[in-house]
Amino acid sequence: MRINKSWGSWQGRGACPVTGLYILNFDTRQLPSEAVDYLVVGSGIAGLYTAYLLARSGRRVVVVTKKMVENTSTERAQGGIAAAIGASDSPLLHLQDTLRAGAGLCDPEAVQVLVTEGPYRVRHLVGMGARFDRTDGGFALVREGAHRQRRILYAGGDATGAEIQRTLCRQVNEMKIPVLENHFVVDLLVAHGQCCGALVLDETANRLLVFRSRVIILTSGGAGQLFRQTTNPPVATGDGIAVAFRAGAEVADLEFIQFHPTVLALADGPPFLISEAVRGEGGILRNASGKPFMSRYHPDGELAPRDVVTRAILAEMRATGTDSVFLDVTHLPADKLRRRFPTIAQTCTALGLDICRECIPVAPAAHYMMGGVRTNLYGETTIENLYACGEVACAGVHGANRLASNSLVDGLVFGGRIVERVLTRSQGTISDPDFSCALLRATAGIDYGALRSALQEQMDLNLGPIREPSGLEQALRFFEDHQYLHECAAPHTEAMEVHNLLQLGLLVTEAAAARRESRGGHYRTDYPQPRECWRKNLLFQRVRRDEQDYY
Ligand code: SIN
Repeated sequence: MRINKSWGSWQGRGACPVTGLYILNFDTRQLPSEAVDYLVVGSGIAGLYTAYLLARSGRRVVVVTKKMVENTSTERAQGGIAAAIGASDSPLLHLQDTLRAGAGLCDPEAVQVLVTEGPYRVRHLVGMGARFDRTDGGFALVREGAHRQRRILYAGGDATGAEIQRTLCRQVNEMKIPVLENHFVVDLLVAHGQCCGALVLDETANRLLVFRSRVIILTSGGAGQLFRQTTNPPVATGDGIAVAFRAGAEVADLEFIQFHPTVLALADGPPFLISEAVRGEGGILRNASGKPFMSRYHPDGELAPRDVVTRAILAEMRATGTDSVFLDVTHLPADKLRRRFPTIAQTCTALGLDICRECIPVAPAAHYMMGGVRTNLYGETTIENLYACGEVACAGVHGANRLASNSLVDGLVFGGRIVERVLTRSQGTISDPDFSCALLRATAGIDYGALRSALQEQMDLNLGPIREPSGLEQALRFFEDHQYLHECAAPHTEAMEVHNLLQLGLLVTEAAAARRESRGGHYRTDYPQPRECWRKNLLFQRVRRDEQDYY
């Protein structure tokens, strides 16, 4: 592990271990192999948009996705997509808001790229058929937390992600881009610093395959499943970050996990997102005594940055000894609510809650990983031919705390840049060295379901929005105690996901323990303020053994 900008170095307690390169024993000489020009891993906005642009340029691209094509965080996105297209808005204002939310850790150049190219990419999506809601004057624009302008476009009221997913799926189908569902990327194949392909488990046929490719683009999303309560889909197990880390790529900013402040908290109900746009339209947060409280915590009240709202809610829950606070929209006209938030209204109704007449119980839940596979402004990782964009990546646009609705546009902008970069590079050849691993032990009797729950419990207790030194120590011990698993082969997908979660959970904990300050989404009780000496990024990279040992 190291800290960039040459400001110092950090030695973990051996807890950034020499883990294996792989989580399976295999020999590529004995596996069916397929050669593709471009392999895109993941089928959310970043993956499908990138695949679409590549195919439009006449390249042969294949998308592999872990479950069904629409099992993505994109599909679930409610609030919208931020772009400075309003008459009183500008990329500069969007830049300022993004930098402020990012709490001093954004890369201003990356943010500049995001805010200047975002409007063009959003218009491109509209040209592809995405129907964002409109008013007489053009696109309907709303505000969300920490935005000083109305700049969030939305679709179907609160079904923005579903509209984008539908639009991109239709384009991908029309262009006959192969999308291989139930294909799980087990590991990347890297020789001499170049990514040559991926080892993939075809779950339907239950067979391992080798995909050899000139370029591999990771767009596999985030890691909300590190926690029990998350807005993310079950597929969000951090696989992309874990495979890239094992392959030797740098990963960055992993201590910064965004908790969404308002997630439905009905006993036995699902952790269903209640969009920030609800507060943008005038929703009021009330504590268990019915009192509004946000103005006591921040001058922007309900529209303060997410980390501030999250901590305020937790403080109120603690003060009143309850498991939730309440989001009140009963003062807003019922017909407007049902029109503006149809998905939220219908989902709550199905769970027995009428949002027009009753307050919505809400509590924070894990929502977004600010960190990820480190990339430059063209989505290039530190491994040649390996690119990343979307939530799996860390281009530096989100810093310590992502500005609401900046993630969908991030996928578009950096997906577009990846395509620009790979199209201007010489095509290169598809290399096919052999890879094998025979070092991993077989395991028996491991209850991976129980292990996943135990891991989530550790993360909930100790790596949530408020972190205590003793909790960080406890989590480190938990993850260190499970390091032996990295010497074992993962027998099935459930085990592979647990391997990836354990790998990532350790990195998140290491980073959180190392960062002795509070900033953005990372808050420590023993260092409750930001410290100038910590205005830097934490980068992790696996200590490489000689690759020759392995193939
Ligand atoms: C929301 O609708 O509140 C989520 C939007 C986001 O996370 O950007």
